[in-house]
Amino acid sequence: MTIFGFGWEIMTNETNYQDRQWLDPDAEPFIQLRGVTKQFGSFTAVKGVDLDIYKGELFSLLGGSGCGKTTLLRMLAGFETPTSGTIYIDGMAMNDVPPYERPVNMMFQSYALFPHMTVESNVAYGLKRDGVKKSEIAERVDAMLSMVELSDFAKRKPHQLSGGQRQRVALARALVKRPKVLLLDEPLVALDKRLREQTQFELMNIQDKLGVTFIVVTHDQEEAMTLSTRIAVMDQGQFMQIGTPTEIYEYPETKLIANFIGSVNMFEGRVVSNDDDHMLVDSVETACRFELGAVAKAEKGAKLWVAVRPEKISMSTTAPQSVGTNQIKGTVHDIGYLGNMSIYRIQLDQNGSSEGGSLVEVTVPNQVRPKDGKHAIDWDDEVYLSWHPESSVALFR
Ligand SMILES: Nc1ncnc2c1ncn2[C@@H]1O[C@H](COP(=O)(O)OP(=O)(O)O)[C@@H](O)[C@H]1O
Ligand SMILES: [Mg+2]
Repeated sequence: MTIFGFGWEIMTNETNYQDRQWLDPDAEPFIQLRGVTKQFGSFTAVKGVDLDIYKGELFSLLGGSGCGKTTLLRMLAGFETPTSGTIYIDGMAMNDVPPYERPVNMMFQSYALFPHMTVESNVAYGLKRDGVKKSEIAERVDAMLSMVELSDFAKRKPHQLSGGQRQRVALARALVKRPKVLLLDEPLVALDKRLREQTQFELMNIQDKLGVTFIVVTHDQEEAMTLSTRIAVMDQGQFMQIGTPTEIYEYPETKLIANFIGSVNMFEGRVVSNDDDHMLVDSVETACRFELGAVAKAEKGAKLWVAVRPEKISMSTTAPQSVGTNQIKGTVHDIGYLGNMSIYRIQLDQNGSSEGGSLVEVTVPNQVRPKDGKHAIDWDDEVYLSWHPESSVALFR
């Protein structure tokens, strides 16, 4: 089925592009990067990256400032030429294809709307320049403004709009040309938190309806988690890990990734045993024995870190009935009350040394209201922490 009578497919269940195509060995990637490097003089901004992106994905490039995200996006758009390596879009090498002949469109970090033009003319601009028929322009601009819910604002100038509305004009302007790939560089960075969250969902809806492949650059991990089919976490011009939001959060491959996305408690230890279904680890720091799911190729005696997310830890003021693995005891050092939940920091009991033990972070949903200003578990309470063996991750680097 087509919408607006001009070519875009509405997604139905049978053509759900968000099916996990990257798991299908027969699926053809829509975009392929092979050994793509970009040097500026002696500085290497992007270092030999390989990447496959599939049709209809909302793929995020996530990383701190200066890690090479924009450079990668500009190479996809054709505004920068790779120093070496090849970019393929829809099966075609892009080396000698100029930006305007690529099936991509880029929405810039600053929306760069024409201030003297109405919303309508801003959106129509690219089509006019391409010599599209007047009647078709009108039809496409109308349809696009209705899609981003700005039909009532067609005659306004950009300065008469809010930040969120301007962002949607920029989106409409980029989409009206029906690119197969839309590149978005920090699209929501100018919006305040509430509007940003709302716009994230709008962006997902629009992308879902149109089935256009979106590649979004962001330094905001929450945004990447909310929006993406998959995320590539970037650092110093390289990908550290590529995966779905769940994979990146629940199965980080390195300490760096675990720390980069969300909060995590990290306990150093040594492998005591590692057999078919579980691994035991001794932690000197906590005098505790940890139990985890078995890990391939972890030798006895190997050094590792056991990583546990704060929300995976149960906390109780009553001692467990029997001594077991994944149990530690401590004292409430700090409570951060956030309304919907609280963040507890627990000072671990000491084993011999007089220094303060390490702090473990635990998040607790506030299911019960505090009474007389007292939390169910309060400052200086003694607490017992525990977690399920499957809730922690073993990290070796
Ligand atoms: N045209 C350029 N000339 C020289 N250095 C550049 C140029 N563009 C980007 N860089 C450098 O490359 C690195 C990556 O930049 P960029 O891709 O913009 O990072 P990000 O978008 O992740 O913040 C930065 O150190 C930046 O200074
Ligand atoms: Mg940038």
